[in-house]
Amino acid sequence: MTTKRKITYASNFEKDTAEGLSSFPKYLSSKYIYDKKGDKLFQDIMEMPSYYLTGAEFEILETHKEAISEAFTSPSGFDLIELGAGDGKKTKILLRHLVSRDDDFCYLPIDISHNVLEGLEKSVQEELPKVDIKPQQGSYFDVLESVADYNSRKKVIMVLGSNIGNLLHPQAIDFLTNIQEAMSQKDLLFMGFDQKKNPQTILDAYNDPEGITAAFNKNLLHRINDEMDANFDVDSFKHWEVYNPESGTAKSYLVSTKEQSVSINSLGLTIHFTPWESIHTEISQKYDDTIVEWLSGESGLQIIDQFTDKNSYYKNYVFTKR
Ligand code: AVI
Repeated sequence: MTTKRKITYASNFEKDTAEGLSSFPKYLSSKYIYDKKGDKLFQDIMEMPSYYLTGAEFEILETHKEAISEAFTSPSGFDLIELGAGDGKKTKILLRHLVSRDDDFCYLPIDISHNVLEGLEKSVQEELPKVDIKPQQGSYFDVLESVADYNSRKKVIMVLGSNIGNLLHPQAIDFLTNIQEAMSQKDLLFMGFDQKKNPQTILDAYNDPEGITAAFNKNLLHRINDEMDANFDVDSFKHWEVYNPESGTAKSYLVSTKEQSVSINSLGLTIHFTPWESIHTEISQKYDDTIVEWLSGESGLQIIDQFTDKNSYYKNYVFTKR
């Protein structure tokens, strides 16, 4: 049930919140989890042993750094363009190795956040002074387009962390197609995809007993309370995770443990929850070679190489334009 819904919104966050909570079934987008507190909670998640994705990708980069560097290198040098670099912990494994090989490359991390880029630039300059780092602030595709325009040498576009898994397949195809359109024939895409595996391992990664993942999802409700003058009783929502081994989709929900109404004053909305009604908050898609081949085919890309960890939990694929 909704009341007095606003027509114009101050932000996409407001608009998407009004749409998602007025729908049946209710949903919110996981991209809004990431404010300062959400970023910190995600850092904490990446430190949890049960969140195997981070360790698996570290292992792949450490074990295969020479073969990966060989795939990246080019006689006339290359630009390593990273989408969503974060703190660059994983990337530094490759940067260090490329420097030790005396490869001619420039590192261009792209991020929307000026703060993230500043921190990354400082730490790379301190730890790896030989790396020529040129941070690019802006949205991925605006920056990719301008980079494609001014530089004619080989581009290696890198996306670590299985971030693509937070997109539904049609959105993932759009994302990959946008990257493909910024590539020329000699360029590469190097991207991480979390793999299908024992369903229990996946559930454990998104269901830690300490409640860090629950707090991460509930940050959406805290943000709505703080930024939209709302009164979610956050403790009356229970985080619930499901995994479908057939589709490879892990889904997160916040489930209302009681009947309740929530006022979101900035949106002029009152949202009613029946007991045990859910809000879908995130998908974390898991892949296998068949799905990645299909996605890449739909996006005008082809897989030319792949690297995995000893458990085959995770894969980094190398793509070219088809
Ligand atoms: C950022 N993304 C790939 C993470 C994932 O695994 O879906 C976000 C996350 N959600 C819960 N834990 C981690």
